[in-house]
Formats: sequence, structure tokens, C-alpha cells
Amino acid sequence: MESTRTALDESRLERLIEVGRSLVTERDPDAVIQNALRAARDLTGARYAALGVLDKSRSGLERFLTDGMDAATVESIGDTPRGRGILRMLIEDPQPLLIEDVGQHPGSAGFPPNHPPMRSFLGVPVKIHGEPWGNLYLTEKKEGRFDQTDEQSAVILAEWIAIAVNNARSAAAERVQLSFEAAEQERRKWARELHDETLQNLAGLRVLLSAARRHADSGPSIEVIDTSIERVDETIEEMRRLIADLRPAALDQLGVGPAISALVERVQSERDVTIDLRMDFVVRGSSGTGRLVPQLEDTIYRVVQESLNNAVRHGEADRAIVEIFEENGEVNVKVADDGSGFDPDAPRTGFGLTGMSERIALAGGELELSSSPSGSTVRARVPTRRLGQTA
Ligand SMILES: Nc1ncnc2c1ncn2[C@@H]1O[C@H](COP(=O)(O)OP(=O)(O)OP(=O)(O)O)[C@@H](O)[C@H]1O
Ligand SMILES: [Mg+2]
Repeated sequence: MESTRTALDESRLERLIEVGRSLVTERDPDAVIQNALRAARDLTGARYAALGVLDKSRSGLERFLTDGMDAATVESIGDTPRGRGILRMLIEDPQPLLIEDVGQHPGSAGFPPNHPPMRSFLGVPVKIHGEPWGNLYLTEKKEGRFDQTDEQSAVILAEWIAIAVNNARSAAAERVQLSFEAAEQERRKWARELHDETLQNLAGLRVLLSAARRHADSGPSIEVIDTSIERVDETIEEMRRLIADLRPAALDQLGVGPAISALVERVQSERDVTIDLRMDFVVRGSSGTGRLVPQLEDTIYRVVQESLNNAVRHGEADRAIVEIFEENGEVNVKVADDGSGFDPDAPRTGFGLTGMSERIALAGGELELSSSPSGSTVRARVPTRRLGQTA
């Protein structure tokens, strides 16, 4: 290691440090990658540089970004590499790989038509938190062959790409989380305002009308008062529903368990649906088991609320099951309905499912949708986090 490090001459070191600075200040992950690819070519003398981003299963490439190839050449090659041949070797065994002539290598899958010649190859993995995330490839060294110094530069750049991409990702996640929190805050404010002002005014009006009725003579005025009382009662009911939909006070005061019990009651009484609620003790809350952190409580509540809404509105379900339990440090949420079903992969115009999956991802969990003509199921798993516990 020491010998390769000392082999990095001063100008390369300077270039590396310069790139490092620019990567730290850049917030856009794609710009980070493009800067790093350009620097990788400068530092190693490679004609081409590319970065392949692994897909979810880490068995192929989901994205392929290049530097050094003009747009017309990229266009004429057609499909971007998916991670076969030499690229597969690096996916399966994520460590630096130096090849003198790709075409002669037994692992090569060959090049597509219109592909410029590429002989020498240097590939290094990009790992985020120790997990393979992508690979940095350098090809076609202009003079001589790739050496240990090139490899060292590529390894350092790959580490910096990982840090910069991770930073950019967490900054983006933080912004989304803040916007969710701001939305909940706004809902809380409106719920309070409507409760304390509008609802109280309506209640006052109801008292006045009742008093007027007691003193009114019989005749048409009584009828008018009765109708008014009825209307006011309906409006009060609607207002209560709206307030609870915005944000039930129970969610802040009592926790997600009681808030969901009340939600289930409400949906059952308003819609023609029977809901079976199973909630485990830990989530329900009790002395000794602390409240979950607000982000998690909000997430669980909104997932159940949206799923039940979808089940009755779109699926016209007769029955639904809501199951919430804690297991192995995770809260599991399942909402199943016997409705008409839908295609979970179809493009969406609504925000419900999208918002739900964003919330779950932010909380570090996973969401799974399944559906058939006999019903739909939403399953979510999120790491448990309680108030007063460090992450
Ligand atoms: N349980 C379900 N049963 C049947 N169809 C569903 C169910 N859940 C979702 N869908 C279908 O998926 C679509 C997308 O749902 P999503 O919640 O994202 O949006 P939405 O309900 O249409 O609008 P929003 O939630 O923003 O009010 C729905 O329009 C509906 O067609
Ligand atoms: Mg919806």
C-alpha cells in the first residue's frame, strides 16, 4: 500500500484533492459522478470512463454513465451495458480488476457493433457503507498500460464517489422528511383551528337554535328551526370527520395505537365495511413500552389510513383486516381487503401509494403491494424506533 501511495506524484495528488473538494460541495449526485469520471480519465490517462450503478438485486446494472465518448457514438452503440462479461466479473467479485486486453480475456462477452476499440481495462467497485453500489470503469489507456498508481487513484476516486453520492442522497432524504413533517404540522394546525374555532361556533349556534325552539310558538317557524338544527348537526358531524382526517388529536396525545383504533371505528361507521383490527400490545402502548418516535407513528397511521381509504373508495371492499405487530425489532403493518383489486405496477395519478412508499423508505423500511381480483394487500415493515432510544 505504502509504495503505491508514494507513487502518486504531486500533480496527481493535487488533482485528487481538487476533485475531492468539488465532490464535497456538489449536491447533485449525477454531477458528482460526471466530475469524478472526468477526473478519473485525467488522472489515469484513460480515454473512456464509466460508472455502472447496480440494480436492486445487485445482479446487473441499472444505470450506466460515461465520459469520453461523444453522443453520436453512444447513440450508435445502442443499449447501455447491463453487466455481462467482464462487467459481470466485477459485480460478482467486487474488487479492483486490471485487464490488459479485454478482447483476449476469457471472461469477455464481446462488444456490440459500432463499439470503439477497448483493450486495456481497469475496474474498481464503489461501495456505500461497505455494500457494493456500483463500479467505476476506465478503459483504453492512451499510453502504456494501467498500473498500480492508476489503480490507487481509481480506488480513492471510487471512495469519494461513494461518500458524495451518500451525502447527496441523505440531503435529499432529509428534505423530503422535512416536507412530510411540515405537512403534518400544517394538518395539525388546521385540525386545531377547525376544532377550536369553527366547531365551537357551530356548537354555539346549535345551543341558540335549541333555545329558540323552546320559546317558539308552534307553526312554520318551528319547522324552520328543526331543519336548521338538523343541518347544523350534519355540519358538525362533517366537521368532526374532516378534523379527524386531517390529524386526529389522539395521534399526538395517545399514540398511534389508540389513533388507529379510532380510525377503524370511524371508517366502519361511515362506510359499508367490516374491519378486523389486530394490534399487538407493544404497539398499542402500555406502561414500560415507550411511544414510538413521531415519524414512525405518523408513517404507520398514514399507511393504514390511506390503505383503508383505497380499499373502500376504489376496491369497494366489504371486509378488511388491519394487522400491526412488532417482531425482531420491526413494526409490521398489513392491510388486506377483499375488494376488486388493481395493478400495483400501473402508472399512478394519485399521491396515496407514492406518498406511502416514500414515507416507508424514509423510515428505513420496505413496502410491498400485492393485488388480485379477489383483493389487495399492503404490507410494510419498518425498524422500530422508540422515544428516548438512540438510533
Ligand atoms: N385497495 C385497492 N383496491 C383497488 N384499487 C386500488 C387499491 N389501492 C389502490 N388502488 C388503485 O390504485 C390507484 C392509485 O392509488 P393511490 O392511493 O396512489 O391514488 P388515489 O387513491 O387514486 O388518489 P389519492 O390517494 O391521491 O387520493 C387508485 O386510483 C386505484 O385505482
Ligand atoms: Mg389513495
